[in-house]
Amino acid sequence: MKKRENFSGRAAVIMAMAGSAIGLGNIWRFPYLTGQNGGAAFVIIYIIFTLILSLPIFLAESAMGRRSGTNSRTAISALVPGRAGRWLGMLTVITPLWILSYYSVVGGWSVEYLFQACRLDFIHLGPEQVSGSFGRFVGQTWTPLLCHWGFMLATMAIVIFGVKSGIEKFSKVAIPVLFVLVVVITVYSLTLPGAMKGVAYLLVPDFSKVTGHTFVDALGQSFYSLSLGMGIIITYSSYVKKQENLMAAGLGTSVCDLLFAYLAGFAIMPAVFAAGIAPGSGPGLIFDTLPYIFAQMGLNSPVFSSAAAILFFVTILFAALTSSVSLMEVGVAYITESWGWKRRTACLALFLFCGALGTLASLSFGPLAQVKVFGLQLFDFADSFASNGLLLVGGLLSVILAGWVMPRKALFTELTNGGTLRRNVKLFPVVLFLLRYVAPLGILAMVASLVI
Ligand code: PHE
Repeated sequence: MKKRENFSGRAAVIMAMAGSAIGLGNIWRFPYLTGQNGGAAFVIIYIIFTLILSLPIFLAESAMGRRSGTNSRTAISALVPGRAGRWLGMLTVITPLWILSYYSVVGGWSVEYLFQACRLDFIHLGPEQVSGSFGRFVGQTWTPLLCHWGFMLATMAIVIFGVKSGIEKFSKVAIPVLFVLVVVITVYSLTLPGAMKGVAYLLVPDFSKVTGHTFVDALGQSFYSLSLGMGIIITYSSYVKKQENLMAAGLGTSVCDLLFAYLAGFAIMPAVFAAGIAPGSGPGLIFDTLPYIFAQMGLNSPVFSSAAAILFFVTILFAALTSSVSLMEVGVAYITESWGWKRRTACLALFLFCGALGTLASLSFGPLAQVKVFGLQLFDFADSFASNGLLLVGGLLSVILAGWVMPRKALFTELTNGGTLRRNVKLFPVVLFLLRYVAPLGILAMVASLVI
């Protein structure tokens, strides 16, 4: 049997996990959810949830993954024998594919915006053209669809040809570049007139805006952003060496992810207020705001602004592609291993399946705007169903398996490296308590609040 590869060290582990975690979730999803949920209050709830609910789940999934040394479906079947285990394992295959279908729609938007940046559209935009330009773009039928299918095609091509090492190497460069660019945009955004309103919005909580939904959104976003509840962390951790410190890696990844999201908030929100865009305007928030920022930047320095815009959308696109590739790979691995299909056939089938599902999400901003499921447009439904439904169930599954089914000694061994990491040994009872009681009850409370 081929020897399984391992990550080369702690920095490599954190980089790989942070690479999966940091993506559109931080830059696109976090700012718009913060805007819809009243700002700083949402951020505080999100941070608390990440530390007391998501981090233990992250640790649970990494312990299960490293223990089993295999893919997520097999890891789950090893803990839950029989049909139940197979079905639960299936959840870890279905969720990523569901997410891929609409993730690709957003990936497609960044393709269009990259074109616009290359055509130097932003620096020619007048204030009246900036507002509503995103709405006009997604309201069309063909261009967004073409971009979505184009993004799916790129994802499939990468998964078929397996230029994995290439794209992984690229993402190692892309994430730091993206970080630097977000810092540049933040600094610029803070100089815009009226920017301080955006800063206050992110720093001063207004708890009167908090509803039951705020909590569900915060937890869903936290899972989404850390790629939890769908077998990705289980799979990644199966490549982590025995001597690595899983608790340190989990904490490192969560903190990087939180910081990146909050930073993206400071890049976007001041400009939202400066441009007079409604913070709660939904999934298009950053696509409405960024052109405004680049247009303003262009007044001072068109060359710098165009270069920043192009680089920004290239890196966003690649950050999105590294995620979409991992989402498709989960399904491809399952189909080839369990159904015996050829890799190419599996990729094509998933390309068509997710492409078709995503078509509905894409059209929901235009021709299918009137079609609603549970009162939500199709795109919003797909997104909420994934983050507030499938991921919560997947996360619950992980905590129950790691907290109650996996032998306690095995969990202890993984999280403390057999008792050799003294600080981890001290923290273990806290992690176990969070995992066994706080996390399951917290998630159940969220699910209940959705149903009631
Ligand atoms: N965590 C990624 C992001 O924030 C999204 C993602 C979810 C990636 C699930 C892979 C799996 O963009």
